[in-house]
Amino acid sequence: LHIVHIAVEMAPIAKVGGLGDVVTSLSRAIQDLNHNVDIVLPKYDCLNLTNVENFHHRQNYFWGGTEIKVWFGKVEGLSVYFLEPQNGFFWTGCIYGCANDGERFGFFCHAALEFLLQGGFHPDIIHCHDWSSAPVSWLFKEQYMHYGLSKARVVFTIHNLEFGAPLIGRAMLYSDKATTVSPKYSKEVSGNPVIAPHLHKFHGIVNGIDPDIWDPYNDKFIPVSYTSENVVEGKRAAKEALQQRLGLSRSDLPLVGIITRLTHQKGIHLIKHAIWRTLDRGGQVVLLGSAPDPRIQNDFVNLANELHSSFPDRARLCLTYDEPLSHLIYAGGDLILVPSIFEPCGLTQLTAMRYGSIPVVRKTGGLYDTVFDVDHDKERAQAAGLEPNGFSFEGADPSGVDYALNRAISAWYNDRSWFHSLCKKVMEQDWSWNRPALDYLELYHAARK
Ligand code: ADP
Ligand code: GLC
Repeated sequence: LHIVHIAVEMAPIAKVGGLGDVVTSLSRAIQDLNHNVDIVLPKYDCLNLTNVENFHHRQNYFWGGTEIKVWFGKVEGLSVYFLEPQNGFFWTGCIYGCANDGERFGFFCHAALEFLLQGGFHPDIIHCHDWSSAPVSWLFKEQYMHYGLSKARVVFTIHNLEFGAPLIGRAMLYSDKATTVSPKYSKEVSGNPVIAPHLHKFHGIVNGIDPDIWDPYNDKFIPVSYTSENVVEGKRAAKEALQQRLGLSRSDLPLVGIITRLTHQKGIHLIKHAIWRTLDRGGQVVLLGSAPDPRIQNDFVNLANELHSSFPDRARLCLTYDEPLSHLIYAGGDLILVPSIFEPCGLTQLTAMRYGSIPVVRKTGGLYDTVFDVDHDKERAQAAGLEPNGFSFEGADPSGVDYALNRAISAWYNDRSWFHSLCKKVMEQDWSWNRPALDYLELYHAARK
């Protein structure tokens, strides 16, 4: 098959959240199965070009009265076409956050289809994502399908229904198949009026992570390479490096890591509660997070100052986006906390497990589908062909967090060898795209029937 993704994020060159990771890692998995994958992306002025190989200008074309420069390069082995409209829509220093985001991305979607048409592409599947490339689905059906891209079918993936629901609803109508990023989230949103009429073509497929990009055996950001065989030594070295880098005490305490966008979705009040609770229980906390909302950012700056004076050697809040530091936290943490209010899939719990850190999560969306509580979910895990792999809780309130976190921290203090065997076990679970990529392929084929 020939699949073209039209997307506005792509890791590591233009990533805001998990959508960017998925565009890259799903594409790599499908390409590894010998299919042909291309990606069309806006050429932002803030692209991280150091990660683009063989970047060069290809051609220009016109659409909508605007000249569009086409650039090409390879990112993580994938062919990427970058569209740079000369109207300056992507010369804004950011991916999202302009008052006219709808107009910018609407223009991009139209320009991308025009590029495929003028460039003589004949894809089998055009895959678009979230509200930002939703217009592809109706522009295709209303116009481009009749112009020469007729072979293509449109697959639309919802990564987060919270943003742009009207656009998502329209894309649900026009796409041939629609997916979201976990089975549980697909059920949670099935009653939503923009989803409900389209359940016959709507599927929940859990995300994977890219095992080469996230690989503790081959990771330049951590001090010692490790696999499940030497997980204890590897994680000890990473913890010490993390403590040293952040000026925390070098003692072996249970270290809770949190790596997140700081938004309502991620359970801000639960995160704060968990920080204090971990400190009460004698643990260390490292939070890496950035808040798009300046009020939330400010709130965390205040909390960081308070913690810095009361627990200088046991808590650090790094209120920024820092990919290398995230690797060190995944490796150096004992527990990775994800107390989301809702979570379509979540990648941090999967990455945590790849690095032998134990997830502590709220049972919602993809967190429910991927984390199985050691005390409560043995049967559910078994049904999924897995062993329990973490700690989880139901309620979105402090007592819920306490219930899971207390058990996790107690297990660390009271039975270290059991805890270490759990670290080894989670590392050996397969959260790559091996299985989900096959589900996407099946869906791509079904879309063409
Ligand atoms: P979402 O897409 O809702 O933000 P996901 O769990 O799907 O949540 O994906 C988040 C991705 O962004 C993960 O790869 C995570 O490691 C990364 N990430 C989140 N916050 C930061 C940060 N402050 N610094 C570095 N990476 C981050
Ligand atoms: C969204 C969701 C997150 C998901 C990611 C990738 O940002 O919030 O749960 O993992 O997309 O699909």
